[in-house]
Amino acid sequence: MKYGYFDDDRREYVITRPDTPLPWINYLGCQAYFGIISNTAGGYSFYRDARLRRLTRYRYNNVPMDLGGRYVYLRDDDSGEYWSPSWQPARRELKDYSCRHGMGYTTIGSTYNGIEAETRYFVPLDETLEIWQLTVTNHREVAATLSAFSTIEFCLWDAQDDATNFQRNLNTGQVEVEDGVIYHKTEYRERRNHFAYFACSEKGEGFDTQREAFLGRYRGWDQPAAVEAGQLTNSVAHGWSPIGAHHVKLVLAPGETRRIVFLLGYHENPDDEKFDPPGSQTINKKTVKPVIAKYLDADRADAAFDRLHRYWESLLGILEVKTPDIHTNRMVNIWNAYQCMATFNMSRSASLFESGIGRGLGFRDSNQDLLGFVHMVPARARERILDLAATQLPTGGAYHQYQPLTKRGNNDIGSGFNDDPHWLILGVSAYLKETGDWSILDEPVPFDNEPGSEAPLYEHLRRSFSYTLDRLGPHRLPLIGRADWNDCLNLNCFSSTPGQSFQTTTNKDGKVAESVFIAGLFVHAAHELAAIACRRGLHQESEHCVAEAAKMEQAIAQHGWDGEWFLRAYDDFGAPIGSKQCEEGKIFIESNGYCVLAGIGLDDGRAAKAMDAVGKYLATKHGIVVQQPAFSRYYLNLGEISSYPPGYKENAGIFCHVNPWVMIAEARLGRGDKAHDYYTRINPSAREEIGDLHRCEPYVYAQMIAGKDAPTFGEAKNSWLTGTAAWNYYAISQWILGIRVTYDGLEIAPVIPQSWPGFTARRVFRGVVYNIAIERKGAGNRIALTVDGAPIEGNLVLAPRDGRREVSVAGVLT
Ligand code: BGC
Ligand code: NOJ
Repeated sequence: MKYGYFDDDRREYVITRPDTPLPWINYLGCQAYFGIISNTAGGYSFYRDARLRRLTRYRYNNVPMDLGGRYVYLRDDDSGEYWSPSWQPARRELKDYSCRHGMGYTTIGSTYNGIEAETRYFVPLDETLEIWQLTVTNHREVAATLSAFSTIEFCLWDAQDDATNFQRNLNTGQVEVEDGVIYHKTEYRERRNHFAYFACSEKGEGFDTQREAFLGRYRGWDQPAAVEAGQLTNSVAHGWSPIGAHHVKLVLAPGETRRIVFLLGYHENPDDEKFDPPGSQTINKKTVKPVIAKYLDADRADAAFDRLHRYWESLLGILEVKTPDIHTNRMVNIWNAYQCMATFNMSRSASLFESGIGRGLGFRDSNQDLLGFVHMVPARARERILDLAATQLPTGGAYHQYQPLTKRGNNDIGSGFNDDPHWLILGVSAYLKETGDWSILDEPVPFDNEPGSEAPLYEHLRRSFSYTLDRLGPHRLPLIGRADWNDCLNLNCFSSTPGQSFQTTTNKDGKVAESVFIAGLFVHAAHELAAIACRRGLHQESEHCVAEAAKMEQAIAQHGWDGEWFLRAYDDFGAPIGSKQCEEGKIFIESNGYCVLAGIGLDDGRAAKAMDAVGKYLATKHGIVVQQPAFSRYYLNLGEISSYPPGYKENAGIFCHVNPWVMIAEARLGRGDKAHDYYTRINPSAREEIGDLHRCEPYVYAQMIAGKDAPTFGEAKNSWLTGTAAWNYYAISQWILGIRVTYDGLEIAPVIPQSWPGFTARRVFRGVVYNIAIERKGAGNRIALTVDGAPIEGNLVLAPRDGRREVSVAGVLT
């Protein structure tokens, strides 16, 4: 069953009933101020760091689910009845409920007893605030006397502390109310220089800032006493739980519409200008007041919305495709690209499955996210690369994560995930291919943020490369360390203590367990580094990279091939993992997908064999599972992977992040039908019809779909923040549609389904618009290209020499 529909023209997903299987969310903000918003207005906001600068509260895994949000209540002052136009929290039966999730905004509305109301939420570009535009229309035949109430619950900044340290934080809450604006200033009196504010365009009837005064004792958000009474109490919070609530009275004639703007924002003052007058304890509001005044103005709020709209139009205009498959089109043109922005911004920190307190920005994750993001805002990709590289350790190893506010490596998690360093090479290579900006390689970047340790970024790539060569195991394959891409294959952990972290505990010195996956990754990264070195004129170094890649390929051929597929790893006893000799976990997706993606075995039949085996043993109708057979019990020598019940997460779940490796592998084998078929199996839009099974949003990828060993086979979890976004975008656009950026130009090499008569695309690349039209005339993947009517040799389209900014590329597939 479906819970809504795609409105492709408006680039929106429209949810038509509020009780979706799970809250279906959107992200507000794409620069520094962010929010999560569900289809019933649940969610929270934060500035840069979801843990350390949380503006509003949200209670994860709560019952009923998804409570805490940006709520508006309407009250009919004649009858005393009240409701929430966004359904939650009052949950009345509404007419014409709809939630439109769009590019950076969400509009939720409904009608109740002839009163139509909708709220559009968005974050203006370059601002640290969110706007709620409430529109109320009276469709009754008589005048309506209404009250509108807005509410949010403030978080006392550090979301972890806020949810746990009650002995302190129930005493610290402080607010100021001035001219109807509610300022939340907990801890401003001491070491913080920032505060939040909640403002309303109308001169209100009253306000509340103490939660209990608003809700009443033992009441929830579904039944606030103050809304029931139709009057706020003008409470001023001292300790306990500061909230923000405004009350606006509306008398609407039949047919009349009124618009109200609410603003929630974050503001910082210089340390020596915190108070006004100086020496007092009152917030200096000089610089924030003009901002508040600006956006409370309905027209200027609209103008900010239009600007946001144009921004997204231009970002999504960089690649637009028209294929015979609607699911491909809307994911490539709209939602997959949009999700790539979210993963770039959030890494894996804040979603409905990531609490915003647990994880900073992952080194591996953020580098991979660049694959799907770099074409949109290259300058931000550049900055991110330099930030990531600055956390790299002198050994070439990497902190697994860093905190976005401090940009420092995260000591709690530490390092030792031996795949990490190579993703930096691949992130930088993606940046170079997209932008041609080679200057980035000369940027001085410190190691471990240590002043004085700066070396050109290129040197960081060298260290990434040698990190693996310095850590080879008994079969000359890379030692795995704590884990490789599969965080849950913990071969040196041997954890038998309940609750111990698989991610941070290592009790073996790790000189035996090896990863064939890292071997494949190394080969891939080595070839990219060789290409980069070559273009820097470092020919010897380039040859050295190629030679080491060849050695690694040899080690894989000797010790990493199981006869029908690539092995996955060797454990701490030197026994193979992912081999037909194994009782469980005989074959894994990662080493097979990645080795073939890296080009290994393409010339001797191993690649095709491996992909056939993946198709036979791992592919299901809902996607490709991580391994088979699933681990039926806990294995001390394998770690977290076997801690999951069969079919979930890394234990034979359909990990959507790695499915595109197989799509690319199939494309490299020239098997377009297979590649696109795998693409479609996990494409959320193509799964829209099975919403009750899939359960997550049909417009974004989920990290995981339960595998065939799970009782809930086909059910998705962990939507939004996953490497799936970038990898699928990369696989479909660059390998299946074959519009591939390279160091030297745009390569056109589609490997599309046989049944497609062709497709068209528009790609803006290094300032030039390429209008591409591909026509199928034969069953194969051979392509003949003409550029502006003139045939060219090969499939590499170079930038026009005469400075033209738009060219036509026509390709004929035979
Ligand atoms: C999850 C992995 C994740 C890891 C690190 C594990 O519990 O299964 O998917 O990468 O935690 O946070
Ligand atoms: C999720 C993590 O964010 C990612 O880094 C990891 O590769 C996968 N899980 C697989 O374990």
